[in-house]
Amino acid sequence: MYQVKDKIAFLEQRLSKKRFQHSVNVARAAKQLAAKYGEDQEKAYFAGLVHDICKEDSWEEQRRLMLAGDFAPDLAELHSRKLWHGIAGAYFIETEFGVEDRDVLNAVRFHTVGRSGMSMLEEIIYIADMISEERDYKGVGKMRKLAFDNLQLCMLEALRDAASSVLKKGGMLPSYTIAAYNHYLLLTQNPQALSST
Ligand SMILES: [Fe+2]
Ligand SMILES: [Fe+2]
Repeated sequence: MYQVKDKIAFLEQRLSKKRFQHSVNVARAAKQLAAKYGEDQEKAYFAGLVHDICKEDSWEEQRRLMLAGDFAPDLAELHSRKLWHGIAGAYFIETEFGVEDRDVLNAVRFHTVGRSGMSMLEEIIYIADMISEERDYKGVGKMRKLAFDNLQLCMLEALRDAASSVLKKGGMLPSYTIAAYNHYLLLTQNPQALSST
């Protein structure tokens, strides 16, 4: 359905070797997580494969694509260039590949910032990006294990790490990330409170 072979060839042309390998690794991790949690494996592989499709475009091009779609960048996203590629990528796959599935579009769009009320596919892509085979940061082993034990706790940990690293660098926190963090905190610690809001 997603003509993955064509997309692999397209990405190999479009991306550096390192980014291409990362994309394939994220796709593989996403497929494994999908198998574990009963999500569509083909969809997960495709979304993982294309999640960074615009990451090596010029800043001007990323900005243009980000603003051309209807993916509602927030203030922090507009002011943080490193976050543009997810929003740009969603628009790119929608217009260049004809992807209509909003879940796949959202998985690419939110893979950098998260959001409150993420679908399982969105969670899978967010986490697959953190635990792909070439990742070697301190604590990646723990994160890999948690990803397959409890996806939502893993989201909470990943968002906590992401938010604290932004704060340490003095960067802006996207409102999507704050809402996502609060959501997973409630979801994992007090799910009743979430259902009553
Ligand atoms: Fe990315
Ligand atoms: Fe990535």
